[in-house]
Amino acid sequence: MASLHHGAESFYQRWQRLNDWLAQHRELWQPAPFTDPSPAWAVKWPALAERVANFSESDCQKLEDDPGILAGLLGRELPSLQIFNELIRVPELANGKVRQSTLPEIRATDMPGRKRLQSGAFAAAIRPLKHDVLDWCCGKGHLARTLAPFCDGKVSGFEWNPALVDDGNRLTGKFGDAVSLHCQDVMAEELVLPKATHSVALHACGDLHRRLMRRVTDGGKPRLSFSPCCYHLTEKPDYQPMSRWAGSGENALQLSREDLRLAVQETVTAPERVRQQTRRISQWRLGFDGMQRALRGMDAYLPVPSHPPGLINGDFAGFCRWAATRKGLALPEETDFNYWETHGERRLQTVRRHELVRHLFRRPLELWLVLDYALFLEEQGYEVRLGTFCERQLTPRNLLIDAVKIGFNQDTQGLR
Ligand SMILES: C[S@@+](CC[C@H](N)C(=O)[O-])C[C@H]1O[C@@H](n2cnc3c(N)ncnc32)[C@H](O)[C@@H]1O
Repeated sequence: MASLHHGAESFYQRWQRLNDWLAQHRELWQPAPFTDPSPAWAVKWPALAERVANFSESDCQKLEDDPGILAGLLGRELPSLQIFNELIRVPELANGKVRQSTLPEIRATDMPGRKRLQSGAFAAAIRPLKHDVLDWCCGKGHLARTLAPFCDGKVSGFEWNPALVDDGNRLTGKFGDAVSLHCQDVMAEELVLPKATHSVALHACGDLHRRLMRRVTDGGKPRLSFSPCCYHLTEKPDYQPMSRWAGSGENALQLSREDLRLAVQETVTAPERVRQQTRRISQWRLGFDGMQRALRGMDAYLPVPSHPPGLINGDFAGFCRWAATRKGLALPEETDFNYWETHGERRLQTVRRHELVRHLFRRPLELWLVLDYALFLEEQGYEVRLGTFCERQLTPRNLLIDAVKIGFNQDTQGLR
């Protein structure tokens, strides 16, 4: 089925191109720089490794938030990165109606500012609404309440946390919204979606949004609009493609839960004090890593569990003694802690630069997953739009899939 909304390319072609590109660069994004001091790619592409090694700290700071510019810069050393921007381009779906679709602040009690704006942008991207609406994993029902004024039918929500349901129903009562929220585990086997419902979900995690896709398509429901997040929150250790195409596609990527985590790993903008502590503990961990490799005579990463919070107020030697005890290692009397502490500092600089390269692949990986969803929905007889509903600054999880059942007939649709 031809459906793309990106030049003349279909979702199939788009998925295949992204799949091949990701496979081609697998060595750059699959190994975690923290555990792998000398990645194979640095040998395969020495000019690239040298280029990133020469980035200053302020270069790193700037480029972390701008993968498009980074890909452009590194495209000189690795020309296959030059198509980065083209590969991740998707249309904007919320055009023009955002302000009028957003709940006024006066009605947005208990709704964080970002959530109010995200819900408004989501609403703008999917209006007009033609069916009853069900908000899947609705929390306090912010999206449901935002959509209610634009829906002639019923608006309801499923959420399993009773406190959120109570709060949400209190808000709908207070503001007279025609919305009812219900306490419901959406993963329950016996769950039946109401008839002829348009399901919506704003940031339902991994298995929760994948279950919704199956429920909607099994029931032949008229429409599904959702913005996925936390792809790695899944029972399965490896990603199971949704679509037949991705499941049997040529050279289809095999993704672990760790790989999926990369798709949503964002730079956390924590306060400076917290960032300093994180940097310190990372240096110590890397210093200890170098030390344990030398001690054991084994060039392999040894995972060390989370440290007690008080340890950060001590020193590197104290950290190493604690970590060694946890791992059953005896530290020699003459251990040169200064040497290994400096080793950790140097490693952290390298890790930061290697992570810069790895993080280039976050959005392409996310798009690969979402294209698999789009393909699945097409295979199930839906016409699919895929794009962004808001700017990345409002939420990095800004992709939206809007799927409408082709030839849906209100009178004949099944009751499943
Ligand atoms: C990331 S929040 C999104 C909430 C809401 N859609 C929003 O954007 O504000 C995910 C929500 O899913 C709910 N949830 C998680 N597992 C659930 C389940 N099995 N059944 C129903 N709700 C669930 C959580 O309690 C939480 O409110």
